[in-house]
This record gives sequence, C-alpha cells and structure tokens, in this order.
Amino acid sequence: MSSSNPLSPRTRHARQLFGGIARQYDRMGYLLSFGQDRRWRRFLVERPGVRSGGRVLDVATGTAGVAMALAGRNGARVVGLDQSEPMLRVGEASLRAAGLEDGVTLVVGQAEHLPFPDSAFDAVTFTYLLRYVDDPAATLEELVRVLRPGGTLAGLEFRVPNAPQWRAAWRLYTRLGLPALGALSSRAWYRTGRFLGPSIEAFYRRYPLAEQGAMWRAAGIEPVFVRTMSLGGGIVTWGARAR
Ligand SMILES: C[S@@+](CC[C@H](N)C(=O)[O-])C[C@H]1O[C@@H](n2cnc3c(N)ncnc32)[C@H](O)[C@@H]1O
Repeated sequence: MSSSNPLSPRTRHARQLFGGIARQYDRMGYLLSFGQDRRWRRFLVERPGVRSGGRVLDVATGTAGVAMALAGRNGARVVGLDQSEPMLRVGEASLRAAGLEDGVTLVVGQAEHLPFPDSAFDAVTFTYLLRYVDDPAATLEELVRVLRPGGTLAGLEFRVPNAPQWRAAWRLYTRLGLPALGALSSRAWYRTGRFLGPSIEAFYRRYPLAEQGAMWRAAGIEPVFVRTMSLGGGIVTWGARAR
C-alpha cells in the first residue's frame, strides 16, 4: 500500500513484525496461547449485535481467523481489513481452503484511516490492534465512525492477570517461556516472543482499564461491557454506538 505520510516507528515495527511471522501465525498463536486464542475469538463473535450478522467489518483481521468465524453466520457479509499484506495472503489461502472466499472480502488498509463511508457497518470487530497504533483513542473514534448508530463494536486484547499468583506466572511465561518456545520455530518468532509481554504491560501502564473504558465512551460507545478470560490473560470489550 502506498501512502503520502511517512510511517511512524510503531507502524513500521508492526508491519515488519507481522511480515516475518505470517506463515506460522495461526499454528504458533494456537500453541503459544495453549489454544485460548480460539476461545477468546469465539466469545468475541458471539457478542450481541455481532452474532446477528449483516455488514461486519473485522479490523486487524490478519490471517482472517475472526473473519472466518463471522462468515456464514446469519448471512453476514464480512470485510476483513489489515495493513499487513503477508498476513492477508495467508488469510486468503485459509478462506479458499475453507470454501468461505465468497463470504469475506479482504482489504489492505489502516485502522486509523478506514476506506469506508460513515455508518457503513452493522458491527465492527478488532483483535490485538490498539497496542500497534500511535493514538488508540483516535483509532477507536475511526472504528466508531464506520459503525451505524445502534451497531456493535467488539474488541479482543491480551491482558495482564490481576491476581498476584497468576500475574507472577504470566510474567515468567511471557519473559522466559514465550521467547524460548518462539526460538524453536524461527528467529522472527523469538523476537515476537520477547516483544509480547513488555508490549502488553506497557499498554496497560499507559492506558489502565478505566482509561480504556473512558476512551470507548468518548468514541460514542455506551454502555461498555468487559469480560476477562483465562485467569485474566485475555479481555473482550464491547458495546453499541449511541443512537
Ligand atoms: C496479533 S494480529 C491479530 C490477527 C487476527 N485478528 C487474530 O485474531 O489473530 C494483529 C494484526 O493487526 C494488524 N495491524 C496492526 N496495526 C494495524 C493498523 N494500524 N491497521 C490495520 N492493521 C493493523 C497487524 O498487521 C496484524 O495482522
């Protein structure tokens, strides 16, 4: 994708990161999360207003895992958008293999500047996106812009567990386990394994949950619901756009 604006260091890093891990992303994501990522995505697509189908946009769709789960539900017409062409290419192959290519359109683009008119979608989903953007509040506003009034926004993200014993185990796993397991696959996965834990913690230091809730409300979602999952390792947030 070409752009007249120079890419920020955060965007450049995200593109490089996912360009290097796209081919093994689905398998490694499943292994490294002990299969929890699929549970979280299933919960995401079951949210009221998302499961009812219609026009659904999945942002940061990557290899199209969420888009595939959305496709074929209640006649949903799904658009998956991502800035990483290598991730989308893997997604395209998976859609073809699953016979779902007619239900999902994949688009290269950035969450910060969506190439869609206002109120174009009945639901918008996103996964693991906000840690990769420079301005999460502005990005949430952009996601809500393309959502019709009354439509649902739902997002999935990692989380740092609250309970001290699970937090300690999570730290041990993210600082030692993830890089070690990643290294068994490739250098790019080793780097990803080292990056993830500090990236998640830095995000919650900068944007504690209460502040994230305030950002959702400022973007026009009210009320905002959250569900923490897997001992606090994942979190799904959702709500409807005010009418
Ligand atoms: C961890 S992957 C998630 C992929 C998939 N949704 C899933 O459930 O596994 C994060 C994705 O966000 C994409 N991404 C990061 N920043 C983005 C941005 N500003 N705009 C669009 N996509 C972005 C990356 O390219 C990557 O595919």
